[in-house]
Amino acid sequence: MTLLQGKVAFITGGGSGIGRACAIGFAAEGARVAIIERNNAHADEVAQIVRGAGGEAIALGVDVSDGAAVKEAVRVTVETFGSLDCAVNSAGIGSSASLFAEVPDDDWDAQIAVNLNGVRFSMKHQLIQMRKQRGGAIVNIASGAGITGVPRSGGYGAAKHAVVGITRVAALDHAKEGIRVNAICPGYILTPMTAETAKLRKLDAAELCPIGRAGEPHEIADAAAWLCSERASFVTGVALPVDGGFAA
Ligand SMILES: NC(=O)c1ccc[n+]([C@@H]2O[C@H](COP(=O)([O-])OP(=O)(O)OC[C@H]3O[C@@H](n4cnc5c(N)ncnc54)[C@H](O)[C@@H]3O)[C@@H](O)[C@H]2O)c1
Repeated sequence: MTLLQGKVAFITGGGSGIGRACAIGFAAEGARVAIIERNNAHADEVAQIVRGAGGEAIALGVDVSDGAAVKEAVRVTVETFGSLDCAVNSAGIGSSASLFAEVPDDDWDAQIAVNLNGVRFSMKHQLIQMRKQRGGAIVNIASGAGITGVPRSGGYGAAKHAVVGITRVAALDHAKEGIRVNAICPGYILTPMTAETAKLRKLDAAELCPIGRAGEPHEIADAAAWLCSERASFVTGVALPVDGGFAA
């Protein structure tokens, strides 16, 4: 028996990095997946990979900072697969590496629009559907920068702390309805996003990760699959570091 047999998973940012690993990993655990992504070509490519491995997937071009578009994506997912049982909200953007006093206003606004409001809209419409079904599990991909102060993280750190906050609030508000809401706080994971920020911030994996190496996207997907599964049936409201010891 696989972890997510028969479940329908809604994965934002599923075209790249952590979201991509979740889409492929959840399908391998038996889920049918909706890939929610503003990069259509990447979403289609991941859907093809899932189908090529014998799974079921749809790719939906959506900007998660647009609440109406997210609502429509939930509707199409339910129309296609019949339910929405679990979700990973991974869509996100990196930030400028500015000192706080120098954070550009447009960078701050983009961080709040995508990294915070994108998660808020996603959770809102996922929860509306899960309440009708009387159950579900949501995992928000926050960050180590959501539980500790990371220098030069500006609006990114603000948005990620807020994601941890709304994860806890939603977990409490909907616990009695059979819905679990958790966050994962990744450390340094090798993805296209960090390939860019590593240059900006001169990231050193051995220094950032006590375990001595950067993480792989599937190591986040494995934790997300467990949190979405019945094996984590008593876990809600946590902000789980998956970070090779960064936050220890
Ligand atoms: N990689 C890391 O080390 C790391 C560490 C901590 C947290 N995170 C978080 O993990 C999540 C995934 O990051 P990643 O490293 O996989 O990055 P990534 O750039 O590889 O993937 C992010 C995906 O989100 C999509 N996206 C961005 N804005 C979107 C929008 N408005 N609407 C829809 N899709 C959008 C992108 O097109 C991309 O496919 C992010 O929320 C990031 O903040 C990553």
